[in-house]
Amino acid sequence: KLAASAIVGLISLSLAACGSGGESGGKAEQVVFKLAVSQPQEHPQYQAGLELGKRLEEATDDRYSVQVYGNETLGTSAEVIQNLSNGTVDFAWIGGANVESLNQDFVVYNLPFVFDSREAQLAVLNDDELNTELFTSLEDSKSITVLGGANAGQRSIYNAIRPIRTPDDLKGLKIRVQQSDSQVRMLQLLGGIPSPMSFGEVYSALQTGVLDGAENNEPSYNAMKHDEVAKYYSYTRHLMIPDFLLMSTQTLDKMDETDRDALLAIIPDITQKASDDFVPYVNESIERSKALGAQFNDDVDTAAFKARVAPMVEEYMGANDLRAKYYEATQQANQDNPA
Ligand code: GCU
Repeated sequence: KLAASAIVGLISLSLAACGSGGESGGKAEQVVFKLAVSQPQEHPQYQAGLELGKRLEEATDDRYSVQVYGNETLGTSAEVIQNLSNGTVDFAWIGGANVESLNQDFVVYNLPFVFDSREAQLAVLNDDELNTELFTSLEDSKSITVLGGANAGQRSIYNAIRPIRTPDDLKGLKIRVQQSDSQVRMLQLLGGIPSPMSFGEVYSALQTGVLDGAENNEPSYNAMKHDEVAKYYSYTRHLMIPDFLLMSTQTLDKMDETDRDALLAIIPDITQKASDDFVPYVNESIERSKALGAQFNDDVDTAAFKARVAPMVEEYMGANDLRAKYYEATQQANQDNPA
């Protein structure tokens, strides 16, 4: 058996060797990009990754393809960001809060209650002219290009102890937040005890009581089985943080111009697909959580939560002119696309 697998290994090695030059007259070796996503296979971002691979093969005559790795198999968001930077991961869907560690100005899109509607958020994310400065800001220093953003629903607070209606209900509860200063600050102001942690660690922390709860959209609540250990999902709807499709700038630079243009032309369809497919996925996720006994509570004093975080929004968005410009764009989009 060992000998057989050694032979198979040799054959595939020599096949790869033939392919690389493309001189044998056969198909040149295909470059397979790695795309990392923290979510499972059924998630719209995973599926959009598969679509990216398919479209890229078609557009480049099979010279390029994409392999999608779900469930943080390529590492936590922080690790994946590092690997994009050094070029060992090519693409990743990364939650906006994580991108703040690379450039704090991304915070504007991660502020609580900053977008009134999904349409407002998409209007801002799809405004290429507006975003050029922000989306290319990581290329020189980190070798990461932001290809685009997608809607990932709204985030609300859930916990194992009680339904949340007012900020006082959060008193004393340890709630997981994403790993950024803005998220820690937000949860403090909302009334709970913030506990920054990577996505994949939350389930066991909830199970062992290290955490009382967390905050996320309904799909993550269900897909990560948090609904098994934290039954009370309360609709605070405090956040609408985008997920960004990031690419290693090193990878992008290695592509020849035609293939690079072909790739960039596909991206708007891919981010749109991830956003669109998210809507039905939310409803399916709610049904699955309910079947497990989760309680969804919509009787929440949103105005009270909003008032608590208002000073923080002022402070973060007012820190420099660029942020003020992006913030203004969010408010204009809210006017054009009311809730
Ligand atoms: C959301 C988001 C992910 C993120 C996760 C988190 O599910 O889509 O990108 O990693 O939240 O809370 O860490």
